[in-house]
Amino acid sequence: MDATTPAAGTSAPPPGLDTMNVTVKIKRYDPEKDARAYWAEYRLDVRPTDRVLDVLNQIKWEMDGSLSYRRSCAHGVCGSDAMLINGVNRLACKLLVRDLGSSIAVEPIRGLEVVKDLIVDMEPFFDSYKSVLPYFVNDDPEPARERLQSPEDREIFDESTKCILCAACTTSCPVFWTNGNYVGPAAIVNAHRFIFDSRDQATDERLAALNQPSGLWRCRTAYNCTEACPRDIPITKQIEEVKRALLWRQA
Ligand code: SF4
Ligand code: F3S
Ligand code: FES
Repeated sequence: MDATTPAAGTSAPPPGLDTMNVTVKIKRYDPEKDARAYWAEYRLDVRPTDRVLDVLNQIKWEMDGSLSYRRSCAHGVCGSDAMLINGVNRLACKLLVRDLGSSIAVEPIRGLEVVKDLIVDMEPFFDSYKSVLPYFVNDDPEPARERLQSPEDREIFDESTKCILCAACTTSCPVFWTNGNYVGPAAIVNAHRFIFDSRDQATDERLAALNQPSGLWRCRTAYNCTEACPRDIPITKQIEEVKRALLWRQA
């Protein structure tokens, strides 16, 4: 059961700007001093056009420097600030306060061990990613200029190239919550990226890696992953395409 702390303080915005008062609940946990996670609550004035990442920064820089979370690019590119925000996995740097209202709850993404506050251990996620050989394999002699590919063939895997490895998909998957060994949708998307690349030669190895007890077939088409993806990748559709590729390979 989570405890709730009183408001940790207030913070004022620059004068002359439209502001709104928000209450932000953050699931906090410091393994060095907390027996369990608890909700900390902060009340502060922010701009409606602030992003959740701006709000977290304001709390950290002006109210409580011990708050810990990952962020880097602040523009939806690096994938480091996926969080559970008002019950949905989102990137904190892409979500505006005005789209959430005055009550905001932020928790770490689920299914991975919490290191501190909103920071989780991403190693199991990246182990699954690495298991599908997420890189180009072609042992033919290098051509003089480049390995050519038609626009039509490139289009087939275009959407899977957009993954930023944020883990919003895998950590929103109910199968992953109950079985942390499930390879997960992010790894399958990155396998899709190369399986459907006409120039790649490691399809058999990738499909074999996915055809394991905790692999591809664990997916129950729950669609949470597709709804969570900040890059709008049609993940469930891609998982079905990889399943079909595997079935055709075995036929
Ligand atoms: Fe994030 Fe989408 Fe890639 Fe999953 S598929 S890791 S949600 S970008
Ligand atoms: Fe999970 Fe997505 Fe399949 S949420 S069950 S990987 S469709
Ligand atoms: Fe890089 Fe949000 S900080 S994606």
